[in-house]
Amino acid sequence: MRDFTNKTIMITGASSGIGEGLAYKLAMSGANLILMARSGDKLKKLKEKLEQDYPIICTYYIVDLSNSASWESCLSKIEANHLTIDAMINNAGFGIFDAVEDADYQDIEKMFHVNVLALIKGIHYFLPHFIKRKQGHIINIASFAGKISTPKSSAYSASKHAVLGFSNALRLEVEKQGVYVTTVNLGPVRTNFFDAADPTGRYQKSVKRFMIEPEQVVDQITKSLFRKKREINLPRWMEFGSRLYHILPGFAERILRNQFSKK
Ligand SMILES: NC(=O)c1ccc[n+]([C@@H]2O[C@H](COP(=O)([O-])OP(=O)(O)OC[C@H]3O[C@@H](n4cnc5c(N)ncnc54)[C@H](OP(=O)(O)O)[C@@H]3O)[C@@H](O)[C@H]2O)c1
Repeated sequence: MRDFTNKTIMITGASSGIGEGLAYKLAMSGANLILMARSGDKLKKLKEKLEQDYPIICTYYIVDLSNSASWESCLSKIEANHLTIDAMINNAGFGIFDAVEDADYQDIEKMFHVNVLALIKGIHYFLPHFIKRKQGHIINIASFAGKISTPKSSAYSASKHAVLGFSNALRLEVEKQGVYVTTVNLGPVRTNFFDAADPTGRYQKSVKRFMIEPEQVVDQITKSLFRKKREINLPRWMEFGSRLYHILPGFAERILRNQFSKK
């Protein structure tokens, strides 16, 4: 077990799935937490449970990341209320799987607001804090959808490509200033993500054998926290697929066509 006593870690999307799992694991390791999501009732219960079970301080903020003004006001409250922040885990996100011709444009816009623009805004806000202290770890939860695009995930995939593009440039900009940037690329993880992404359950059924548990993701992120790590890829074999795709995209699309069309 790693010791994060006296560290303060921000987690967006902490009310369920990977974010909630991270909150438990990091509290167990002694970190003080700043949690964010829309579901205030869940965050309140989580705070009470964590502070009861572990000697930490947990603060939560109810915020809708699709609303830029609310997010900005939340960021300034966090800055005013917390002296130091050691790491920010930009985890909040969602996907709606639809063919472009069937998609609701508002869903597309919202995916970009939550998955991309809110992540960039949060980093842009706190980066000077990290640079000034010559330390800090930014962990951005992306997806293999940010490396490989498949049918019915055009907008989600584009949003995660944006997260990777932003993070890869940022990492190079801040590497000499003591700030680490890690991206996390995931295949299907058993969380509530699919309630919105795949309400029929068809996709989940077809990828059941590849599904990983959120605990595996949480463990890998916890191991990498405050260490220089470019990216976490889970499951690891998907990274081989993604490398093949980038070397020979047309060939990969031909041989993996069936696999790519599970949504
Ligand atoms: N599960 C997968 O298969 C998978 C695969 C690849 C990548 N990912 C990525 O992993 C991250 C975490 O997802 P998860 O699997 O843990 O799903 P999840 O259980 O649905 O959790 C998503 C979190 O994001 C928060 N969130 C969503 N929209 C928000 C908004 N408008 N404002 C504030 N918070 C918002 C949710 O909180 P509230 O609803 O309370 O606001 C929730 O805490 C996401 O970025 C997702 O894209 C997931």
